[in-house]
Amino acid sequence: MWSSRLAFILAATGSAVGLGNIWKFPYITGENGGGAFVVVYLLCIAMIGIPIMIAEVSLGRRGRLSPINTMKQLARADGASQNWKYLGWMGVIAAFLILSFYSVIGGWSLSYIGHAFSGEFEGAGSDKIGAIFGAMLSSPETLMIWHSVFLLIVVAILSQGIRSGLEKAVNVLMPMLFLLLLVMVGYAMSTSQFSQAVDFLFTPDFSKLTTEGILSALGHAFFTLSLGSCAMMAYGSFLPSQVSVARTAITVSVIDTVVALLAGLAIFPLAFANGLEPSAGPGLIFQTLPIAFGQMPAGTFFATLFFSLLLIAAITSAISMLEPLIEWLEEQRGINRKVAALIAGVLVWSVGLLTVFSFNNWADLHPLSFVPVFAEKTFFDIFDYLTANIMLPLGGLFIVVYFAWFMNPDAARHEVGIKSDNVYRLTHFVMRYVSPALVLIVFLYNLL
Ligand code: TRP
Repeated sequence: MWSSRLAFILAATGSAVGLGNIWKFPYITGENGGGAFVVVYLLCIAMIGIPIMIAEVSLGRRGRLSPINTMKQLARADGASQNWKYLGWMGVIAAFLILSFYSVIGGWSLSYIGHAFSGEFEGAGSDKIGAIFGAMLSSPETLMIWHSVFLLIVVAILSQGIRSGLEKAVNVLMPMLFLLLLVMVGYAMSTSQFSQAVDFLFTPDFSKLTTEGILSALGHAFFTLSLGSCAMMAYGSFLPSQVSVARTAITVSVIDTVVALLAGLAIFPLAFANGLEPSAGPGLIFQTLPIAFGQMPAGTFFATLFFSLLLIAAITSAISMLEPLIEWLEEQRGINRKVAALIAGVLVWSVGLLTVFSFNNWADLHPLSFVPVFAEKTFFDIFDYLTANIMLPLGGLFIVVYFAWFMNPDAARHEVGIKSDNVYRLTHFVMRYVSPALVLIVFLYNLL
């Protein structure tokens, strides 16, 4: 068990806050035209993300097993179909696929710690920074090495069991990351493009919003809160029983959202000030922040610190992606934790190679070009789209539907821990109708 409510909040925040906030949120916001996308994203967090987090953590705490067995057991207790266990399986597969590319991007942070530490960013303009990024991407060997190191660290931590180390890491390092982001926003305020960036992020222009953009916003709400893959269910299974799930879910979601918005505020002024397109894609933060570090006092120190903290945020997220699978291997197959972590690590590593090559040798390979949504997509793009925009929302939909329609109503109420009748009734209504309907509507719009 987590030792307290705070311990769970730290662990869940460790899972939620990661590359999704600092790497992915800014670049997909840039690709989708800014403000209107941010509005939809915030609505998705409030109307879908928070309710589904409440459902997911509640299911985990009631089951107290690995997600797959939790679903099996709850379905038995509630007289529902045993097929609900496939929900656990879909989550495990989604998290596995996410980790395969997450680890490659985590490797980028590792590589940037080295670049930062060597002082390469000092006084560098966008050309030089762009060249550093380009050189890293074009070398499969470089990407592969850092991808391997990243996964080794994750596997080493997982094989020890996650609880004690995780609490400590998140307790100290997350506040540091937060402070450093504030420093970066402070620096960004000193550029004359700050108000342009604020405008870009917070003045919605709905003509820039596409149906695919809405789906990305929805998908990202799941991705950034670690929902829909049963990762939060696994963490919920260690939550002490007297803690209010609802309050805890709101706390974690708010922290996660604030971190993403701060990252946006730090990055877009720099992108504009240095003539970079907001739609530059996955390289956005790696091509903007180093320029700022290169100009600020003690920049080498701050840059090294920043990429180290980003790495740690990525690791605490990556751990939560593999935990459900490892728990299941332990529980069901009686495999020892160390062996389980190793097997899972080797499998993820291999699939991750497809992402490694997506940025160089296979950059023009579109393996599923015969499927319209995947037509222009590399392996990396496919894994990203398939998980964030399809598997996670689908998983989340089933989770909230199970909670609100199939779970014993008294047990549901007991887990959520909302005392006021009216507030609970409203929450239950949102979970029963509003969240599922919104996910379905976004899905259908994109299919039609
Ligand atoms: N939320 C993490 C981030 O924003 C990523 C993450 C961790 C995740 N665990 C997950 C995403 C489980 C989906 C499912 O970086």
